[in-house]
Amino acid sequence: MLRCVLAVCAVAAVYGQTDNLVQLATKIGATDLVKVVTQAGLADTLANKGPFTVFAPSNEAFARVPKRIIEELERNKTLLTDLLLYHVTNGKVLSTQLKNGQLAPSLFEKHDLRFNIYNEGKLITAEGSPVALADQQASNGVIHLLNKVIFPIPEGSVVDFVSRDPFVSTLLKAVVAANLVKTLEGGPFTVFAPTNEAFNRLPPGALDKLLANVTALAEVLTYHVVKGTVYAEGLTNGERVATVEGQDLSVRKMGPERVIINNAMVERADISVTNGVIHVINNVLIPPPKK
Ligand SMILES: *[C@@H]1O[C@H](CO)[C@@H](O)[C@H](O)[C@H]1NC(C)=O
Ligand SMILES: *[C@@H]1O[C@H](CO)[C@@H](O)[C@H](O)[C@H]1NC(C)=O
Repeated sequence: MLRCVLAVCAVAAVYGQTDNLVQLATKIGATDLVKVVTQAGLADTLANKGPFTVFAPSNEAFARVPKRIIEELERNKTLLTDLLLYHVTNGKVLSTQLKNGQLAPSLFEKHDLRFNIYNEGKLITAEGSPVALADQQASNGVIHLLNKVIFPIPEGSVVDFVSRDPFVSTLLKAVVAANLVKTLEGGPFTVFAPTNEAFNRLPPGALDKLLANVTALAEVLTYHVVKGTVYAEGLTNGERVATVEGQDLSVRKMGPERVIINNAMVERADISVTNGVIHVINNVLIPPPKK
């Protein structure tokens, strides 16, 4: 007799685990996923091979994807296939086996998926997307239903992202001037990355003054870095998070898409990189003077 938690036993009893992944996905209501899996020609693999662990976006998750992106996916089968394979890992991984910050290679060119566990296990995320329903067991694997579709970005570290993205080129310049490139290749880190506009919003002369004083610059920059990976879903309203600089940041949250760090708004959340996660913000965070 397999040991299992009640909910899983109940599912096993109802479905007898005779449903394959595609049949089970249909039964639990992930019908949009089944539709696109079929379009991509992956239904046969998911029905008959495995075992696989599928992080299955719900219909609500697909409904939240911008129309422009859906149309692009419909036009480009390679893009669609890559996206779907990014939601699948080899083997049967139950939620109880996941650890906070754990990485597992997806079937999309081994791009990693990162799992996080928040709120004493009450919230599990894959690449920042909350698991809405875990541990649905099929004959050839297991399904965890996701609240959001997850999109792979080109592989690379925090520094690679900052080097590539034209909207944060001032940050790159500052990181280089402060000799922090090597530090930021470590991690894993959560980085609040101010845009070029955020740097432009500093008082006149403030940026030049910082660039001329490596100590002060490094203090400001490390005040944007938190150890470990915290995706937006894992941040809670009223929370204080310790930075590498040593002082805390305060978090305000007015809903999943509205996160404020001190006086800065998160403009783009949850950019997953190999050694962490980046949240792009619209103001530079200035550490309070040390006592
Ligand atoms: C389709 O997507 C792939 C993978 O992202 C890309 O390399 C390719 O250029 C795209 N093809 C077209 C016609 O847009
Ligand atoms: C550089 O910054 C540090 C830390 O903020 C400060 O203690 C120091 O006085 C500054 N040096 C100059 C020359 O302004």
